[in-house]
Amino acid sequence: MIITSCGNSVKLAKSLAKKLRVKYVPLDIGAFPDGDMYMRFKAKSFKKKKVVIVQSFQPNPDMSLFDVIWAAETAKDIGARKVILVAPYLAFMRQDKRFNSGEAVSSRIMAKLLNKSIDKIITIDPHLHRYKSLKEIFTISAKKLTANPLIGEFVKKKIKNPVILGPDWESYQWADKIASHVGCDSTCLAKTRFSSRRVTSKMTKNVEIKGKNVVIIDDIISTGHTIIEAAKKAKKKGAKSITAIGVHGLFAENAISKMKKYVDWIYTTNTIEHKTSKIDVLPLVLKELKILK
Ligand code: R5P
Repeated sequence: MIITSCGNSVKLAKSLAKKLRVKYVPLDIGAFPDGDMYMRFKAKSFKKKKVVIVQSFQPNPDMSLFDVIWAAETAKDIGARKVILVAPYLAFMRQDKRFNSGEAVSSRIMAKLLNKSIDKIITIDPHLHRYKSLKEIFTISAKKLTANPLIGEFVKKKIKNPVILGPDWESYQWADKIASHVGCDSTCLAKTRFSSRRVTSKMTKNVEIKGKNVVIIDDIISTGHTIIEAAKKAKKKGAKSITAIGVHGLFAENAISKMKKYVDWIYTTNTIEHKTSKIDVLPLVLKELKILK
């Protein structure tokens, strides 16, 4: 087995290679003077090797997809027996239907392209909403890992007297599981989204919020508006403090500074490297790759 990356998740890729005692092979990605992609592995051949590409699809989701396909095809060209993609954060999953006529269903297109070039995909907490399983879009072997136990342990150690709040109905799949791990109450909000940047919400199940340290948990934090709406609700109900935890911190459009007005602490996992990444997903991926080694 050898491990490589297309530029995102390099830290995670190198740590995995070290723990697995396999080689990390750097990949040069550049451009010819006219702008055409140039790519080169710093290896002569991958003869009979399993090649693992560790690449989060943020930042630059479109280029990440393109780079992964180029890297996978090149790896096979120079002898790889199998190409496994570890995409700690898999982009495009939220566009899981045609919301408006003529729109691209990006998740399907992304999966279709990957199905052709890689042999297996491993990802962490993909946004499964209208799809119940990755099998609905991937024909290759697709493994979904979850950071729930890691987040549960983090909350247990770090936050006293917590209550878990899911900012929308979909997030209850995380909120509920994490609450059982911690041994505390959980509820979620019913969110109405009016646009990419405007959402409102109301609480579905009544739990005691007053005087509690509220932990808002979501899979993705993008513009931060979903978290902000939930934080406003929690504050109104008398929360003592508010912590936001996202599996994947995308933090688009100055999300952090907007959220800081309403939230006391923000934490994420390192599926996307960020200064808020205090929850390490390495053990999750390591366990999976050990089986495949
Ligand atoms: C969508 O359903 C996701 O689970 C997140 O709630 C959403 O992507 C968060 O987006 P934003 O931070 O822009 O409100």
